[in-house]
Parts: sequence; structure tokens; C-alpha cells
Amino acid sequence: MPSTSSTWRALAATIAVVFAVGLAGCKSKPVEEKAAPPTEPPAEKAELPPAPADFPQMKIPEDNPQAPEKIALGHQLFFDARLSVDGSRSCYSCHQNEHGNGGETPLAVGAKEKQLTRHSPVIWNTAYFDAFYWDGRAGSLEAQAKGAWGGGNMGVGKENLAAKAAELAEIRGYKKQFKKVFPEEGMTPDTIAKAISAYERTLICDDTAYDRYAKGDASALTDQQKQGWGVFMSKGQCAVCHAPPLFSSAMGVPGGLYYNVGIGTAGKADDQIDVGRSKVSEQDADWGAFKVPSLRNVSKSAPYFHDGSVATLDAAVKVMATGGIDNKNKTPLMADRGLTGAELASLVAFLGALDCGGKLEQPDLPK
Ligand code: HEC
Ligand code: HEC
Repeated sequence: MPSTSSTWRALAATIAVVFAVGLAGCKSKPVEEKAAPPTEPPAEKAELPPAPADFPQMKIPEDNPQAPEKIALGHQLFFDARLSVDGSRSCYSCHQNEHGNGGETPLAVGAKEKQLTRHSPVIWNTAYFDAFYWDGRAGSLEAQAKGAWGGGNMGVGKENLAAKAAELAEIRGYKKQFKKVFPEEGMTPDTIAKAISAYERTLICDDTAYDRYAKGDASALTDQQKQGWGVFMSKGQCAVCHAPPLFSSAMGVPGGLYYNVGIGTAGKADDQIDVGRSKVSEQDADWGAFKVPSLRNVSKSAPYFHDGSVATLDAAVKVMATGGIDNKNKTPLMADRGLTGAELASLVAFLGALDCGGKLEQPDLPK
């Protein structure tokens, strides 16, 4: 019986074929219409694929509706290092503006300087995902927040969350706000996670140059970026997994979408490899598979991949365009696309058109 993920994989493969066929159709048009052009039109002048602009509806849990005061509270908590076991880490510590709201170091370092095993991902538009973390092990933002807070990131320990919440409830500013926003429950691990999640649901990046282009402003992209957009959609086959406008096909897909592209497998024994999704799904087919990250803000969020193993965007794009890294379970959807140096450069330029305009603002913290 096909599992849900293999059904989605089959769908992604179909999309790949549709893109390829669709584009072949587009490209042949100008040649047919103009009487025998003397030279091939330059790539950036070729007819470009349509750019989708509309985001899907964000799913908001029924038991945690958005409200301005709750969002303001979550904003403070996100920036408050007093949540961590040693006062050293806030959520923001690892999701900073300077690093595209991902992490600075290849692997994150948690409270008490605990060395973690993965790179901090960009959190813009994260609320469009259906499963969180590189392996999708958290089914909601609320669960993810408690995971980060109780786990190695902030080091409190799951069993100590209630005690930590009670300690934080002694801060008068919090006590007052929680009484207003959660009159029945007050400040608990659950209400803290709810407030943080409500704030995260406001971290929407929909104001990039790509978005202006998709809404009809042809001047929003440079010629090189337009060429890169064409390569992204056709020869490069990037959109098979990084589907616009969110640039991750894993967003809104029940349970997420995971592929083994080979990152973190080179030169390692099997037992040293981060197996990613298969640890969660217990399916061999998911061995070494990771969630498809969104590419929004990617030019600002070096280093790259779940293990932060690639330092520059040029190098990350090259890995993806040349078929990933071979290993025993690499997805057949990765292949060397045979791109020229100019096409690779245009892809990198295009990814710059996905830079988010917004930034997270440091709020005043309650005393
Ligand atoms: C010490 C650094 C660190 C801290 C502190 C931290 N994070 Fe993260 N965050 C990470 C890393 C690393 C991952 C990926 C971990 C994994 O996939 O196993 C992650 C993943 C996430 C994700 C999932 C994004 C996605 O696309 O799947 C969200 C959302 C997030 N963090 C929000 C938070 C919140 C909220 C807090 C505070 C409660 C927080 N983080 C604290 C490092 C950190
Ligand atoms: C088969 C699906 C698939 C295809 C096709 C694909 N990607 Fe990816 N991409 C992924 C996955 C999965 C990851 C995360 C891998 C990991 O960290 O283990 C990723 C990661 C990336 C990253 C790093 C992002 C970050 O935040 O660390 C970049 C950049 C990227 N891809 C660009 C591209 C480009 C450009 C193309 C086309 C040449 C492409 N990808 C094609 C699945 C795909």
C-alpha cells in the first residue's frame, strides 16, 4: 500500500513533468511566431513561466485564535532569555535578523553551551508548515515551542516546564498580561507556547521582489534574476520541491514532505549519519530524508542545510543543481541538470529576489 509520503512524491514527480512539458511549449512559441530568427533569443528574453502570487490560507488551531494582546505577549516571550534554564538563550538567540532569522553557526549551540546536532532554520512563514523541525517531528507550532523550551535549545527539561512557568509568573508584567489574555489558565507551559505560536503566525514574508514581480511589476526583477526564475522553473527543476510562492512544497502538506538529497552522508559510516525523517516515520524509505525548507530569505541565512555544512549560497545551489550527494537512498528527483556557469549564477541572483523586507523587533520586556 502506498504511504502518504509516496503519494506526495508521485504527485511531485507529476508536477515535474508538467513543468517540463509546459515550458517546452512556452519556449517554442517565439520561434514559431517570428520568421526564422537569425540567432536564438537570449535566455532572459525567453517567455517566462507565470509566477504564482497567492499564499494558501494559514491554518490557525481552533483552540488558539489570533488576538493582538496574545501576539504582543508571544513577542515578548520570544525575546526573553529568562525562559531558558540559565538565562542565556531566548528563542531569538538562534533565529536572528542578522542571519536571515536562521542560525549563525553551522550547528546550533543551546543553553549551558550544549552542542546541538542541527542548524537553526529560517522561521519566516513557518506557520504555513504542517510539521516542524527538519524531520517534522512536531505537529504544531505549540508543540515545537515546548520542544525548544524544554529540550536542549533552552535546556529547561520537559518535566520542569511547569515550575519554570510558575517562576516566570512572578514577573508582574507577565502575570498581568496572562490574566487578561488567558483569564482561566493564567501562565502555564501551554499558554506560554500558545502565545509564542500566535506571534510566530505573524512572521509572514510576502513582500519580496519576487512577490512584486508576481503581482505584475516586471521591473521588480533584474534581467539576470528573470533568467534565474526561468532556470528555477524549467531546466533546474527546483520548483518540483521548492514550489512558489512559498518555495517549499512541504508547506500545507499533511505531515510535510521529506527528501534524501544526500546532505550529511558523505564519508560517514551509517551509524554516524543523522537519519532525519526515518527516525520519526520509522520508514526505511525516509532514511536520510529532510524537510524541504522554504527558500525565502535564503540569501541572508548562511550556512546552509540541516547540518549547516555548506557555507555559501553559490555552493548550496551548485550541490542542488548537480544532483545532491550520492548515497544509498538518494531521491530519484535529484539529478545533475547540466546547468552552465551563467545559469547557476542566474539562479543565485534569483534567490536574492526572495529576501524578506521585514525584521523581528526587540520588544520591551516586562519587569
Ligand atoms: C539554541 C538555539 C535555538 C533556540 C534557543 C531556539 N531554537 Fe528554534 N530551532 C533551532 C534549531 C537547531 C532548529 C532545528 C532543529 C531540528 O530540526 O531538529 C529549530 C527549529 C525551529 C522551528 C521549526 C522551523 C521549521 O521550519 O520547521 C521553529 C518554528 C523554531 N525553531 C522556533 C523557536 C522558538 C519558538 C524558540 C523558543 C521557544 C526557539 N526556536 C528556540 C535552534 C534554536
Ligand atoms: C527533490 C527535491 C528537491 C529539489 C528538486 C531541489 N531541492 Fe533544494 N532542498 C531540498 C531539501 C530536502 C533540502 C534540505 C536538505 C537538507 O538539509 O538535508 C533543500 C535545501 C536547499 C537549500 C538550502 C536551504 C537552507 O535554508 O539551508 C537551497 C539553497 C536549495 N535547496 C536550493 C535548490 C535549488 C536552487 C534547486 C534547483 C537547482 C533545488 N534546491 C532543488 C529538496 C530539493
